[in-house]
Amino acid sequence: MKRVLSGIQPSGQLTLGNYIGAMQNFVKLQETHQCFFMVVDLHAITMPQDPAALREQSEAVAALFLAAGIDPNRASVFMQSHVPEHAELGWIMTTVSYMGELERMTQYKDKSAGKESIPAGLFVYPTLMAADILIYNADLVPVGDDQKQHLELTRDLAQRVNQRYATSLQVPEPYIPQTGARIMSLDDASKKMSKSNPNPGSYIALLDEPDVIRKKLSRATTDSGREVRFDPVEKPEISNLMAIYAHCANMQMSEVERAYEGQGYGAFKKDLAERVVEALEPLQARYREIRQSGELPAILRKGAAEAREVASETLRQIKDKMGFVLPQ
Ligand code: TYM
Repeated sequence: MKRVLSGIQPSGQLTLGNYIGAMQNFVKLQETHQCFFMVVDLHAITMPQDPAALREQSEAVAALFLAAGIDPNRASVFMQSHVPEHAELGWIMTTVSYMGELERMTQYKDKSAGKESIPAGLFVYPTLMAADILIYNADLVPVGDDQKQHLELTRDLAQRVNQRYATSLQVPEPYIPQTGARIMSLDDASKKMSKSNPNPGSYIALLDEPDVIRKKLSRATTDSGREVRFDPVEKPEISNLMAIYAHCANMQMSEVERAYEGQGYGAFKKDLAERVVEALEPLQARYREIRQSGELPAILRKGAAEAREVASETLRQIKDKMGFVLPQ
């Protein structure tokens, strides 16, 4: 069975962007693949995190995985820090990476822009991400568009290690949705929707109350036209809302266009809010159940044990090929 690996940072409240760009595909892929889904807490600390908030958000992300429909009996769900092999292979990946290729990463450039002191962890972030993927020999990595460049680097590093040390690491492929790979900010369609945006009006959090969702969507920026037509270049704001609609209502874009022919933005935005609320309400109810049930620690323990079995074997093989003396 082919393998899938992906992760989400517990660095804020998960948004509709995370859901549409990544989590919906996690749920889909578990039907046909051996899946590993983790909360990447070691990545989150590349930016300063309040300890209490980090703990709460990490548990929240794990519970949201399950609430979204990931079945812990099919997929391994775990905390990245519970599998210490990630950090160890991350170090090895750092030693085979070049400063130049890391400097070219747009996420690094964005997050370090204007900073006087740039955290070194931010710089080597992609080498840990490469380790995350390669340690499971993942075939597919479901992500949104913004992670494509990190995936390219991961592929380069896999090939480099294979050449240099005669390993046979799987060179992974990204798995990116056709529409919704880049859900944009509600207040500015030139920026992606992001959980770290200081303006909560710019994103829909998966745990937003229905009335908050309605309010945020009614305030979402649109152009001055009235035609509900998918055209991301000429009409980026309404096209973004249409992508959200299509995913939440499980409709094709052409169906959405047809449904709102001649109706204007007002009616569309009102319905959109209801579609989003309908999509998120069951998820929110399951989320509350999971948090109250106390089942999370056992699920995470099982997931980490399953993950470690695979990760420790890959790491052992790589270290052996590299010439490390293995413990006897
Ligand atoms: P993170 O935590 O920023 O985002 C998690 C996932 O959500 C996707 N995403 C979006 N998709 C569409 N529209 C948006 N506005 C949007 N915002 C976020 C991201 O592309 C991502 O798939 N580096 C990763 C975490 C990571 C990882 C990994 C992913 C660490 N190790 C190994 C895959 C494999 C990140 O920062 O994701």
